[in-house]
Formats: sequence, C-alpha cells, structure tokens
Amino acid sequence: MIRHDRRNALARLASVATSLAACAALPSANAAAKPAPLKDLAAAKGLRFGNAVGYQYFKDPAYRALTARECNVIVAENEMKWPFVEPKPGQYAYSQPDEMIAWARKEGMQVRGHTLVWQPEKWLPEWVAKYDFGQGPAKAEKLLRDHVTRVCQHFGKNVYSWDVVNEAIEPETGEYRVNEFTKRLGAVDQIELAFRVAHEQAPHAQLVYNDFMGEEADNAKHRAGVLKLLQELKKRGAPVQALGLQSHIGSSNNGRQKADMREWRKFLDEVTGMGLDLLITEFDVNDKSMPADIRQRDAGVAAVAKDYLDVTLSYPQTRDLLVWGIADHASWLQTWEDAARKDKLAQRPLPYDASFKAKPLREAIAASLKAMPKRS
Ligand code: XIL
Repeated sequence: MIRHDRRNALARLASVATSLAACAALPSANAAAKPAPLKDLAAAKGLRFGNAVGYQYFKDPAYRALTARECNVIVAENEMKWPFVEPKPGQYAYSQPDEMIAWARKEGMQVRGHTLVWQPEKWLPEWVAKYDFGQGPAKAEKLLRDHVTRVCQHFGKNVYSWDVVNEAIEPETGEYRVNEFTKRLGAVDQIELAFRVAHEQAPHAQLVYNDFMGEEADNAKHRAGVLKLLQELKKRGAPVQALGLQSHIGSSNNGRQKADMREWRKFLDEVTGMGLDLLITEFDVNDKSMPADIRQRDAGVAAVAKDYLDVTLSYPQTRDLLVWGIADHASWLQTWEDAARKDKLAQRPLPYDASFKAKPLREAIAASLKAMPKRS
C-alpha cells in the first residue's frame, strides 16, 4: 500500500540530513570527550538500556566491549528460543545462552528472556509440526506446560523479564494466528496457559506479551488485535504485566505524518490504561526506502528514530529500551528478505556502524533519553 508521497519524503529527509549532519559532526570535532554511555543516560531517568546479542557477535571481544560500555541489559537474539533450547524433542541445548548470561553477570548486566512461545508456526521447532498430539488437548497442554516450566526453571532468577508469548496476532487481519497449540487448546487459552505457567515458575519475573504492531496507518488492525488480546487476558486475570513494543521502525514511515503518532499515542494510552507497563524490546530502523547517500540516510534514520522515541519514551511506563543489535553488521535486517534495499546496499539500522563508529542514530537515542521524563 502506498502511504505517502515519496518525493516529499525525500525532500524532508534531505533537509533533516543537513541539520543532523551538522550535529553529528560535533562529537568527532572533540574526540577526546567520550560521550556518556547510553546506559547512564537511561539510568539517570529510571530506564534500562540493552542490546540483543547473537552468539556469533558475542564471540567478538570488540562487540562485547561495546555492548558492556553502552548497555546494562542483554537479551539473546535467538539462543533462548524454543528451536534453539530444544532442537529435538527431549534434547536440550543451553550452553550458548548460559555462556552469555555468565558474562552478563560478570559485567553487572541484567538479562531479558526472549521468548518462551513464538507463535507463528514457522518459528516453533520443526518437530512440533510432526509431533504426535493424539486425540484431544491433553498432550498439547502437557508439551506447552513442560516447555515453559523447563525453560523458566533452567534460567531461574537470571532472567528478570520474559517475553512469554511473541507475535500472536496476524498483522493483516488482527485475528489470532493459528498453530498446533491454538488448534488444540484455543488461541487465547494457550496464551493464558503460557502466562500462568511462567508466573508459577518465575514469580519474580516481569511477564510480557511482545509484538511488532507499529504506528503506521496500515497497522490499525494489528494494533486492534493486540488490544483485544490484552483486554481478554486481563479479563481472565492472566498474569500479563507489560506489552513489548518490538519497534522495528522505519520500513514504511518514510515521510511519516504527525497523524500516525497520534494513533500511536492512542494505542499506548489504551495499553497503559489497562495498567500495563511498556518496553521497547527490539529497536532498529529499516532504511529500505531511504536514499543511498550515507549522510542523508543516517540522518533520516536518526530523525525517524527521534520522532518515535520521543513519543514512546514520554510514557513513564516504558522502563526498558533494547536495540536489536548495536552495530550495523550485526543487524538481522542485513539478511531478512523483506528488508533488502533495491540498490543492494547494506542496511544502516543501528547506533554504530560496522567499524564501531557512532552514528547520528546514537545521538538521536541519547537526545531522546535526555529529553524524556524521569521514572519514579
Ligand atoms: C530474528 C533474529 O534477529 C534473526 O537472527 C532470526 O533469523 C529470526 O529472528 N521479531 C522477533 C525476533 O521477535 O525474535 C526476531 O529475531 C526479529 C523479529
């Protein structure tokens, strides 16, 4: 769907580029003064700042050092997902996340858990599709219950916040997604079950429903579907405490209009009105529709980020901001088909470039952290 006039968008980006490039030049003019770590700017306002670390990047000492300098939280990018922790039924693999957690503890960082049940069929372990569920719901319930129990018990108090259920809503329709568990247990019932078991097994942890509904006009059905789910869970008394806003922004909001942010505020008002907290769980900026020129593109990414963060962080209920990778080469967008740029250039979605040089996006994040209200 075409949302905005591309030429207007490009003109806007070009003008933001000029002003942001000027700001971005300042720190390098005074290279001796290291900017305050993002985690410190965040902590001064009562917010945690984190990074999603994939094991292959974790192995790079420079990547680890940058993560430790900027962040006080990590989340495993993939390594705690069901197909990773149980690649075959009854065969468990925890060594990579355990190694990352041990490092995080040594560095004095906290750990988020992502994710106990990722709903789309594609992201459940392959063996689940072939599993012998027999007649009736009993075996499906046992499989789900045992999985959530085992993973929560394994990670225990090392995880302060869990994405219990990820992406349960079809973005195009706002309906519940269908998978082996929804078919046998009912869509909301199996989500409720996952939350109840997580609460039993990890009573200390914040329990989060996480999804990628965005602020764009064509995300209205996705947002409505998520609200419906949260309302239903609250009505049932399920122990859901927060909504995770994945915040993979930028793919379609080139030239975004203010009206979109009004819709986003309405959505966040509804969610917080239910007594739920918010987290930005997977922040990055897809620059697919931005110009090739690096200065213009980096400025465009920073501008889109600032708009989004200023609104979302203005809610004191937002307690965490996690980026989905901290340096461009580590971004999942480099290989995700839908994010491929027409000009085949690499994406620049994260606060640092591939040689660990800070980009205007880092400045934009720092500026939003400085501007946001203090959490009590
Ligand atoms: C992505 C990882 O970054 C990729 O490495 C992997 O191949 C697929 O999953 N929403 C989520 C994350 O909740 O788990 C996804 O992570 C990105 C989108």
